[in-house]
Amino acid sequence: MTTSSKRVGAAAADTVRPVRIAVLASGTGSILEALLADGLPVAVVVTDRACRAESVARQAGLPTELVARSEFGRGFDRDGYTTALVGALSRHAVGLIVMAGYGTVLGGAIHDAYPGRILNTHPSLLPAFKGWRAVEEALEAGANETGCTVHVASLEVDDGPVLAQERVKILPTDTPAALHERIKAVERRLYPATIRLVLSEIEAGRLAARAGR
Ligand code: GRF
Repeated sequence: MTTSSKRVGAAAADTVRPVRIAVLASGTGSILEALLADGLPVAVVVTDRACRAESVARQAGLPTELVARSEFGRGFDRDGYTTALVGALSRHAVGLIVMAGYGTVLGGAIHDAYPGRILNTHPSLLPAFKGWRAVEEALEAGANETGCTVHVASLEVDDGPVLAQERVKILPTDTPAALHERIKAVERRLYPATIRLVLSEIEAGRLAARAGR
Protein backbone atom coordinates (compact mmCIF):
# COMPACT_ATOMS: atom_id res chain seq x y z
CA MET A 1 0.00 0.00 0.00
CA THR A 2 1.17 3.48 -0.72
CA THR A 3 0.74 6.25 1.80
CA SER A 4 -0.95 8.45 -0.77
CA SER A 5 -3.54 5.83 -1.74
CA LYS A 6 -4.56 5.43 1.90
CA ARG A 7 -4.84 9.17 2.43
CA VAL A 8 -6.79 9.90 -0.76
CA GLY A 9 -9.21 6.96 -0.37
CA ALA A 10 -9.94 7.60 3.27
CA ALA A 11 -10.36 11.34 2.73
CA ALA A 12 -12.81 10.74 -0.09
CA ALA A 13 -14.79 8.27 2.00
CA ASP A 14 -15.09 10.66 4.87
CA THR A 15 -15.91 13.95 3.21
CA VAL A 16 -17.72 13.66 -0.13
CA ARG A 17 -21.53 13.94 0.08
CA PRO A 18 -23.63 12.44 -1.33
CA VAL A 19 -21.45 9.35 -1.14
CA ARG A 20 -20.26 8.17 -4.55
CA ILE A 21 -20.06 4.49 -5.39
CA ALA A 22 -17.49 2.51 -7.36
CA VAL A 23 -18.74 -0.79 -8.78
CA LEU A 24 -16.16 -3.53 -9.44
CA ALA A 25 -17.33 -6.08 -12.03
CA SER A 26 -15.83 -8.70 -14.34
CA GLY A 27 -18.79 -10.55 -15.81
CA THR A 28 -22.07 -10.05 -17.56
CA GLY A 29 -22.87 -7.07 -15.38
CA SER A 30 -26.50 -7.94 -14.65
CA ILE A 31 -26.03 -6.97 -11.01
CA LEU A 32 -24.47 -3.68 -12.18
CA GLU A 33 -27.53 -3.12 -14.39
CA ALA A 34 -29.78 -3.60 -11.36
CA LEU A 35 -27.77 -1.08 -9.32
CA LEU A 36 -28.06 1.45 -12.13
CA ALA A 37 -31.79 0.76 -12.61
CA ASP A 38 -32.23 1.45 -8.91
CA GLY A 39 -30.68 4.89 -9.39
CA LEU A 40 -27.77 4.38 -7.02
CA PRO A 41 -25.05 7.07 -7.28
CA VAL A 42 -22.51 5.02 -9.24
CA ALA A 43 -19.54 7.26 -10.12
CA VAL A 44 -17.26 4.74 -11.82
CA VAL A 45 -17.20 1.11 -12.93
CA VAL A 46 -13.91 -0.75 -12.58
CA THR A 47 -13.20 -3.94 -14.52
CA ASP A 48 -10.23 -6.29 -14.54
CA ARG A 49 -10.77 -7.64 -18.07
CA ALA A 50 -12.82 -7.04 -21.19
CA CYS A 51 -16.39 -7.95 -20.20
CA ARG A 52 -20.02 -7.06 -20.81
CA ALA A 53 -20.09 -5.07 -17.54
CA GLU A 54 -17.75 -2.55 -19.17
CA SER A 55 -20.18 -2.01 -22.07
CA VAL A 56 -23.09 -1.68 -19.63
CA ALA A 57 -21.17 1.13 -17.91
CA ARG A 58 -20.25 2.84 -21.18
CA GLN A 59 -23.82 2.70 -22.43
CA ALA A 60 -24.94 4.28 -19.18
CA GLY A 61 -22.45 7.09 -19.83
CA LEU A 62 -20.37 6.24 -16.77
CA PRO A 63 -16.61 6.58 -16.44
CA THR A 64 -14.82 3.24 -16.54
CA GLU A 65 -11.41 2.14 -15.31
CA LEU A 66 -9.86 -1.01 -16.71
CA VAL A 67 -7.26 -2.25 -14.24
CA ALA A 68 -6.25 -5.11 -16.47
CA ARG A 69 -5.07 -8.34 -14.99
CA SER A 70 -2.58 -9.96 -17.31
CA GLU A 71 -1.42 -12.79 -15.05
CA PHE A 72 -3.78 -15.46 -13.70
CA GLY A 73 -1.15 -17.92 -12.47
CA ARG A 74 1.11 -18.10 -9.46
CA GLY A 75 3.11 -15.10 -10.63
CA PHE A 76 0.19 -12.74 -10.06
CA ASP A 77 1.31 -9.73 -8.01
CA ARG A 78 -1.85 -9.30 -5.92
CA ASP A 79 -0.49 -6.46 -3.80
CA GLY A 80 0.82 -4.55 -6.82
CA TYR A 81 -2.49 -5.06 -8.61
CA THR A 82 -4.45 -3.84 -5.58
CA THR A 83 -2.29 -0.74 -5.26
CA ALA A 84 -2.97 0.06 -8.94
CA LEU A 85 -6.69 -0.43 -8.35
CA VAL A 86 -6.67 1.88 -5.31
CA GLY A 87 -4.86 4.44 -7.46
CA ALA A 88 -7.61 4.22 -10.10
CA LEU A 89 -10.33 4.54 -7.44
CA SER A 90 -8.65 7.58 -5.91
CA ARG A 91 -9.37 9.51 -9.14
CA HIS A 92 -13.13 9.29 -8.54
CA ALA A 93 -13.67 10.43 -4.92
CA VAL A 94 -15.76 7.40 -4.02
CA GLY A 95 -16.85 6.56 -0.50
CA LEU A 96 -18.26 3.06 -1.03
CA ILE A 97 -16.89 0.16 -3.06
CA VAL A 98 -19.43 -2.36 -4.34
CA MET A 99 -18.20 -5.67 -5.72
CA ALA A 100 -20.57 -7.13 -8.29
CA GLY A 101 -18.94 -10.28 -9.59
CA TYR A 102 -15.32 -9.10 -9.55
CA GLY A 103 -12.98 -11.85 -10.65
CA THR A 104 -9.86 -10.83 -8.73
CA VAL A 105 -9.27 -11.36 -5.02
CA LEU A 106 -7.80 -8.10 -3.70
CA GLY A 107 -5.01 -7.45 -1.21
CA GLY A 108 -4.94 -5.38 1.97
CA ALA A 109 -4.36 -1.96 0.40
CA ILE A 110 -8.02 -1.56 -0.58
CA HIS A 111 -9.17 -2.36 2.97
CA ASP A 112 -6.68 0.19 4.32
CA ALA A 113 -7.97 2.84 1.91
CA TYR A 114 -11.70 2.09 2.37
CA PRO A 115 -12.03 0.44 5.79
CA GLY A 116 -15.46 -1.11 6.26
CA ARG A 117 -16.60 0.50 2.99
CA ILE A 118 -16.35 -2.50 0.65
CA LEU A 119 -19.46 -4.60 0.03
CA ASN A 120 -19.87 -7.90 -1.78
CA THR A 121 -22.74 -10.10 -2.91
CA HIS A 122 -22.24 -13.84 -3.02
CA PRO A 123 -24.53 -16.54 -4.44
CA SER A 124 -24.84 -18.73 -1.33
CA LEU A 125 -25.96 -18.50 2.26
CA LEU A 126 -22.56 -17.72 3.75
CA PRO A 127 -20.66 -19.19 5.49
CA ALA A 128 -21.77 -22.13 3.32
CA PHE A 129 -20.20 -22.52 -0.12
CA LYS A 130 -17.57 -19.80 -0.31
CA GLY A 131 -15.63 -19.28 -3.52
CA TRP A 132 -16.21 -19.31 -7.24
CA ARG A 133 -18.12 -22.62 -7.40
CA ALA A 134 -20.75 -21.69 -4.82
CA VAL A 135 -23.74 -22.56 -7.00
CA GLU A 136 -22.27 -25.84 -8.32
CA GLU A 137 -21.23 -26.90 -4.82
CA ALA A 138 -24.70 -26.32 -3.40
CA LEU A 139 -26.10 -28.59 -6.12
CA GLU A 140 -23.37 -31.20 -5.67
CA ALA A 141 -24.03 -31.26 -1.90
CA GLY A 142 -27.66 -32.23 -2.55
CA ALA A 143 -28.89 -29.21 -0.58
CA ASN A 144 -32.55 -28.34 -0.97
CA GLU A 145 -31.95 -24.64 -0.56
CA THR A 146 -29.23 -22.07 -1.02
CA GLY A 147 -29.47 -18.30 -1.45
CA CYS A 148 -27.45 -15.14 -1.50
CA THR A 149 -25.56 -13.02 0.99
CA VAL A 150 -24.66 -9.34 1.00
CA HIS A 151 -21.74 -8.70 3.34
CA VAL A 152 -18.98 -6.29 4.21
CA ALA A 153 -15.85 -7.62 2.52
CA SER A 154 -12.75 -8.53 4.47
CA LEU A 155 -9.34 -9.86 3.46
CA GLU A 156 -10.71 -13.41 3.61
CA VAL A 157 -12.63 -14.40 0.48
CA ASP A 158 -16.44 -14.33 0.92
CA ASP A 159 -16.11 -13.48 4.59
CA GLY A 160 -16.95 -10.47 6.74
CA PRO A 161 -20.05 -9.22 8.57
CA VAL A 162 -23.33 -10.29 6.93
CA LEU A 163 -25.74 -7.46 6.12
CA ALA A 164 -28.53 -9.37 4.39
CA GLN A 165 -29.36 -12.91 3.27
CA GLU A 166 -32.23 -14.48 1.40
CA ARG A 167 -33.04 -18.12 0.75
CA VAL A 168 -33.62 -19.67 -2.70
CA LYS A 169 -35.10 -23.15 -3.10
CA ILE A 170 -33.17 -25.70 -5.15
CA LEU A 171 -35.40 -27.59 -7.59
CA PRO A 172 -34.79 -31.25 -8.55
CA THR A 173 -34.45 -30.16 -12.18
CA ASP A 174 -31.95 -27.35 -11.49
CA THR A 175 -28.79 -26.87 -13.53
CA PRO A 176 -26.04 -24.55 -12.21
CA ALA A 177 -27.07 -21.92 -14.75
CA ALA A 178 -30.78 -22.07 -13.93
CA LEU A 179 -30.16 -21.96 -10.19
CA HIS A 180 -27.64 -19.13 -10.48
CA GLU A 181 -30.11 -17.11 -12.53
CA ARG A 182 -32.80 -17.49 -9.83
CA ILE A 183 -30.27 -16.48 -7.17
CA LYS A 184 -29.21 -13.46 -9.24
CA ALA A 185 -32.85 -12.41 -9.57
CA VAL A 186 -32.86 -12.11 -5.76
CA GLU A 187 -29.45 -10.40 -5.67
CA ARG A 188 -30.70 -7.77 -8.12
CA ARG A 189 -33.31 -6.77 -5.54
CA LEU A 190 -31.47 -7.42 -2.25
CA TYR A 191 -28.14 -5.79 -3.16
CA PRO A 192 -29.47 -2.33 -4.15
CA ALA A 193 -31.76 -2.24 -1.11
CA THR A 194 -28.87 -3.13 1.22
CA ILE A 195 -26.53 -0.64 -0.43
CA ARG A 196 -29.13 2.09 0.15
CA LEU A 197 -29.18 1.26 3.85
CA VAL A 198 -25.38 1.40 4.03
CA LEU A 199 -25.33 4.73 2.17
CA SER A 200 -27.77 6.21 4.64
CA GLU A 201 -25.67 4.94 7.56
CA ILE A 202 -22.54 6.50 6.06
CA GLU A 203 -24.29 9.78 5.33
CA ALA A 204 -25.70 9.91 8.85
CA GLY A 205 -22.21 9.24 10.23
CA ARG A 206 -23.42 6.01 11.82
CA LEU A 207 -21.38 3.43 9.94
CA ALA A 208 -19.57 1.33 12.50
CA ALA A 209 -16.05 0.17 11.74
CA ARG A 210 -17.38 -3.35 11.51
CA ALA A 211 -15.12 -4.93 8.96
CA GLY A 212 -11.71 -4.34 7.58
CA ARG A 213 -8.85 -6.77 7.70
C1 GRF B 1 -23.42 -12.74 -8.86
O1 GRF B 1 -24.08 -13.98 -8.61
C2 GRF B 1 -22.53 -12.39 -7.71
O2 GRF B 1 -23.01 -12.82 -6.47
C3 GRF B 1 -21.28 -13.15 -8.03
O3 GRF B 1 -21.12 -12.96 -9.41
C4 GRF B 1 -22.41 -12.84 -10.01
C5 GRF B 1 -22.38 -11.61 -10.89
O4 GRF B 1 -23.38 -11.67 -11.87
N1 GRF B 1 -20.17 -12.72 -7.22
P1 GRF B 1 -23.42 -10.66 -13.12
O5 GRF B 1 -22.10 -10.74 -13.85
O6 GRF B 1 -23.64 -9.29 -12.56
O7 GRF B 1 -24.59 -11.13 -13.94
